[in-house]
Amino acid sequence: MRENGGALDRSDESERMIPTTKPILRVLRGERCSPPPIWLMRQAGRYLPEYRELRGKASGFLDFCFNPDLAVEATLQPIRRFGLDGAIMFSDILVVPHALGQKVSFRESSGPQLEPLQSAEDLARLSLAGFKDRLAAVFEILMRLRRDLPAATALIGFAGAPWTVASYMVEGRSCDGFAKAKRMAYAEPALFGRLIDLLVEATLAYLGAQIEAGAEVLQLFDSWAGNLAEAELRRWSLEPLSRIVARLKATYPDVPVILFPRGAGPLYGEFARIPGLAGLSLDSSLPLDWAAGELQPHVALQGNLDPLLLVLGGDAMRREVRRILGTLGRGPLIFNLGHGILPETPPEHVSELVETVHGWRG
Ligand code: CP3
Repeated sequence: MRENGGALDRSDESERMIPTTKPILRVLRGERCSPPPIWLMRQAGRYLPEYRELRGKASGFLDFCFNPDLAVEATLQPIRRFGLDGAIMFSDILVVPHALGQKVSFRESSGPQLEPLQSAEDLARLSLAGFKDRLAAVFEILMRLRRDLPAATALIGFAGAPWTVASYMVEGRSCDGFAKAKRMAYAEPALFGRLIDLLVEATLAYLGAQIEAGAEVLQLFDSWAGNLAEAELRRWSLEPLSRIVARLKATYPDVPVILFPRGAGPLYGEFARIPGLAGLSLDSSLPLDWAAGELQPHVALQGNLDPLLLVLGGDAMRREVRRILGTLGRGPLIFNLGHGILPETPPEHVSELVETVHGWRG
């Protein structure tokens, strides 16, 4: 048991819960596991030949996400191949704008394409009516996964954070810096705030339904938090995420939430203090000693191997893995990457990584 007050509160709470052996859930209750559990962001995807074959069976990427047979199989592929400790349901953060009524599509080479949201009129066309019905396939996928997963594998549900989802909704595509979205956030904060509020409500409805369908852990991806300046980062990333965590905790106190505010730098310290938060996912640039001292007394940590080292494999990768384990492995840690697996990653390197982590005794 750790000496920190918040951690003690959380372990007291966990003693009242049904005992579980799933290592990811133990870590998120503040326990240290040796070796630590491991899962990887974007663990299902194009770097796997079996994924590419499966992907060929659906016409578009959204059809793939909403086809329970294909999405369940895509989720299970990396679990079977590597014996990971967590299974993240196969889907995408952009199903939320789609279910709100925005046009979303995915192109082979250029990624997601959305009809850009530019005005109050565009916002008024979006609606929560029928929102959950349009996501029914996701809940079906979770129910099947909960039934089919190995007993020790935690089922992870997810959503994009309001700021990151809004970035795609306003910009209409992936791009460097998301200047249009930032421009709206800085210059039209009332309009942008209404979009963020809508996304908070949509995300809460979506994540609540994921829990009801069997998700045991939730991760919120704020992949573009680092695009914002300090005050805006607090306003458009930290604040809406704090609201989401508080309301989830009020209804589902036992379901742990992990946040990934990529690029938040020292503001990670403020995320670590969000009441009720179980875990923080670290990007690769955060200093590990700082994270161990400033963040880990408050929350379990997840991360933070540079995805490029997984592409390289070998000694360079193993050296960094040992550094992460040596520093963060003294407290509650879920091993992961600092961002998603790159498509050019050799699957053998993932096996090598899982063996290294599972073979560690600290
Ligand atoms: O294995 C898993 O992690 C589960 C599935 C998952 C996908 N996307 C599948 C996907 C998850 C958790 C996501 C999250 C996601 N989607 C994020 C947040 C995490 C991050 O990487 O920052 C973001 C920003 C998106 C938006 C998105 N989806 C983009 C920008 C793209 C195109 C670029 C790319 O990486 O391909 C996607 C498409 C996408 N989502 C693919 C996959 C496997 C590839 C498309 C395909 O297979 O045709």
